[in-house]
Amino acid sequence: MKIGIIGAGLIGKTLAQKLSDKGHQILIANSRGPHTIEFENDKGIKAVELVETAKNVDAVIVTIPFGKVVDLPQDLFSELDRNVPVIETMNYFPARDGIIEKIENGKAHSVWVQEQLGRPVIKAFNNIVAHSFAKFGQLAGTPGRIALTIAGDDESQKNIAKKLIDETGFDSYDTGSIAESWRQQPGSPVYCTDLTTEEMKNALARADKKTIILTRDLEAEKVAELGEEYMNIIVSGNYPGNFSDPVINLFRSINGLPLR
Ligand SMILES: NC(=O)c1ccc[n+]([C@@H]2O[C@H](COP(=O)([O-])OP(=O)(O)OC[C@H]3O[C@@H](n4cnc5c(N)ncnc54)[C@H](OP(=O)(O)O)[C@@H]3O)[C@@H](O)[C@H]2O)c1
Repeated sequence: MKIGIIGAGLIGKTLAQKLSDKGHQILIANSRGPHTIEFENDKGIKAVELVETAKNVDAVIVTIPFGKVVDLPQDLFSELDRNVPVIETMNYFPARDGIIEKIENGKAHSVWVQEQLGRPVIKAFNNIVAHSFAKFGQLAGTPGRIALTIAGDDESQKNIAKKLIDETGFDSYDTGSIAESWRQQPGSPVYCTDLTTEEMKNALARADKKTIILTRDLEAEKVAELGEEYMNIIVSGNYPGNFSDPVINLFRSINGLPLR
């Protein structure tokens, strides 16, 4: 497949690397231009201008900071066939993205994203930390394989996204429609807790719309307490050899899940 990736940060670059390794042709862009994007191994990956990511491609993945969605050109997807999935990986954090009242009042992140982009989206790749996503992919059928949640309203587009999830090394776990996708947002028991398919069902059922924002904010507070050295590792994506992201057990413990 030819896949456009918008955003060349931790998640965008890892997606580009993993999917090009599987033989896909990747067009990737950021906000500053192709000359600012570098890969150690760029076989199958081309850095392009933003508009090129949404022309003549079989799928687009939008993976930029949530609040930056409003900066994307209004007509970005105007030439893209309606059947082509636009997959979005984004999580809203008020401290980074600014307060968006509609979301604070309960609108699902992806519903808001759809409204900004002017077309339906598939939500995927949002419920795993960058370290686990980069390091813990396994072949299908491997015991303990981590599951990534996926939501969307178009089954054929969802199936394309599920195949891509599998190719990155993870099971996919269908959480239903975009309206229901709040269940996989920050503050949910399935958010960044590295659960398997077997563990997902119970955890997802415990997602609670009344408390999810409080839990999200508690998690953000506890992550800040992990300190500057931790944050530097996380933002750089340069993980020490023995690195294990403490967030997984932190979020498990906050959500009453067994520790890993
Ligand atoms: N990091 C994680 O653990 C993780 C896990 C799951 C989901 N997510 C979510 O996935 C999204 C991406 O996360 P990330 O960690 O990969 O972010 P990141 O490392 O901060 O990278 C963000 C990328 O988005 C690009 N960008 C920003 N504004 C843009 C615009 N208007 N047009 C085109 N590109 C633009 C940036 O390019 P410039 O530098 O050129 O602006 C940069 O390449 C976020 O919404 C995040 O919440 C993150």
